[in-house]
Amino acid sequence: MPERFPPSTPETPENETTRWLGEELKHYEEIFSFSDEDLRSKRILEIGAFDRRFAAALVSANVSTEVFSLEPALAVESGAEPKKGYARKDILMRLMDRLPEKIRDEVEKHTIVAEAEAIPVADGIYDLVIGKSVPYSSHKQLAKRIIELLRVGRDVRFYPITSDNRGDYESAIRTIKSTPVIIEYKTTTEDDMPMDGGIVHIKEDVLILRKGS
Ligand SMILES: C[S@@+](CC[C@H](N)C(=O)[O-])C[C@H]1O[C@@H](n2cnc3c(N)ncnc32)[C@H](O)[C@@H]1O
Repeated sequence: MPERFPPSTPETPENETTRWLGEELKHYEEIFSFSDEDLRSKRILEIGAFDRRFAAALVSANVSTEVFSLEPALAVESGAEPKKGYARKDILMRLMDRLPEKIRDEVEKHTIVAEAEAIPVADGIYDLVIGKSVPYSSHKQLAKRIIELLRVGRDVRFYPITSDNRGDYESAIRTIKSTPVIIEYKTTTEDDMPMDGGIVHIKEDVLILRKGS
């Protein structure tokens, strides 16, 4: 789950939420290696969008209103136990209550309630598709997801790629025969973190996939 939560007091003023969304946008730009200009006026999809903060941030900053959020956990009945790997619906809705109505309407209008392995949209309709910390339970699921995202988008980005999951992505990509893919890894997060027992070097990459010819 995301480590940073929106301001949580019910009486939070709108401008505090707006400022927080601005920080979230900067964070996404850093970890996915893009600028406002890369995102401007693009048709974008985020999978596993959680509380849809990325879409809210892009709309709030007037960078793009063509930003779609895919989140399967919104299909879970309120109060029901979520499926393994899904977020809790009440947490997903927390940010929505804080958003100015115009932004909330825009984000809700562009929400897709589905899993990333079967997206109910036509081929090639997004300029950019991103997935941040979206869980998978098998190589088969990951390969199916990558094929589906390359079907709907031209530029597909996953973050974070670490020493723990890089092998999974590499072997999932190797199994994809149907689509030639151009593969790029960029390190976007690197730091020395004090942990129990010493300093640990943290390195996280973004994986960028583009359809080859
Ligand atoms: C760990 S959270 C990450 C949320 C957000 N992307 C972030 O990093 O802040 C994983 C999200 O992926 C969603 N999710 C789980 N399985 C999924 C699937 N098969 N397709 C799309 N989203 C999925 C969960 O409901 C949850 O919102």
